[in-house]
Amino acid sequence: MPGFDAFARVAKEVRRDVRAARDRDPAARGVAQGEILATWPGIHALLAYRVAHALHAAGVPFLPRLLSMLTRAVTGIEIHPAARIGEGLFIDHGAGVVIGETVDIGSNVTLYQGVTLGGTGFATGKRHPTVQDNVTIGSGAKLLGPITIGHGAKIGANSVVITDVPPNSTVVGNPGHPVRVDGRRVEGPDADWIHLPDPIAEAIQALASRIGTLERTVAELSEEEPQQTAEVRPLRTVKGPNPAGG
Ligand SMILES: CC(C)(COP(=O)(O)OP(=O)(O)OC[C@H]1O[C@@H](n2cnc3c(N)ncnc32)[C@H](O)[C@@H]1OP(=O)(O)O)[C@@H](O)C(=O)NCCC(=O)NCCS
Repeated sequence: MPGFDAFARVAKEVRRDVRAARDRDPAARGVAQGEILATWPGIHALLAYRVAHALHAAGVPFLPRLLSMLTRAVTGIEIHPAARIGEGLFIDHGAGVVIGETVDIGSNVTLYQGVTLGGTGFATGKRHPTVQDNVTIGSGAKLLGPITIGHGAKIGANSVVITDVPPNSTVVGNPGHPVRVDGRRVEGPDADWIHLPDPIAEAIQALASRIGTLERTVAELSEEEPQQTAEVRPLRTVKGPNPAGG
């Protein structure tokens, strides 16, 4: 069983979680700490997770999963006892939040309702996201696979993110793509890497045009009918938004 040290650590973490709710939830301004502890579902889920995680780390069987399951029934927030969560996580509203087994969450992260930090399939090992410090994840966002969300990033509501997110960026949409990095709009020729020119089609077009010119010249000299030059069509243009946001 976990010792006194483990419970002292859990108590400290929960105090820090309550402070995070007071600092980051406008609805918590002026509300006493005891009231937040008693009535905020995100706090209940974290309190239960912190205890379940300490039991899981101490090798206690069954109880951590039971706690996780009961908390899910009460709050709608499912946190696997093995997930690793730093200080000051704030889960606003709560319902529909899923935090998978191999998730790593840094300090001062904010999650809104409906956020999934999940896997993409049936892979084993590290298969869930790593979320660095000071990240905010909007309601309904799905972050899937062993990706890294860089510190200070913001993920827009209802985004679906399956690739790494640069630090201090804003990512929105499905597929999630950066629209701001370090507060600046993502733009410029390098940003549009999905709509690149097609150099092979361009080279074939240039050759076909030269052959056409030569054939017309030969036809004029030999006084024959010029042949029809085959049409060279460019490759199919990729449709959809530019994932770089440019
Ligand atoms: C993404 C977000 C964090 C805003 O970040 P920001 O850095 O302030 O970015 P901006 O508001 O300047 O928006 C940047 C661009 O992304 C677009 N955008 C913002 N949020 C978006 C979203 N969720 N989905 C799609 N596009 C979005 C904006 O229209 C803007 O587009 P533009 O550059 O073409 O004008 C915010 O819009 C968001 O989704 N927050 C989640 C809040 C939430 O879940 N609240 C629930 C409370 S119950």
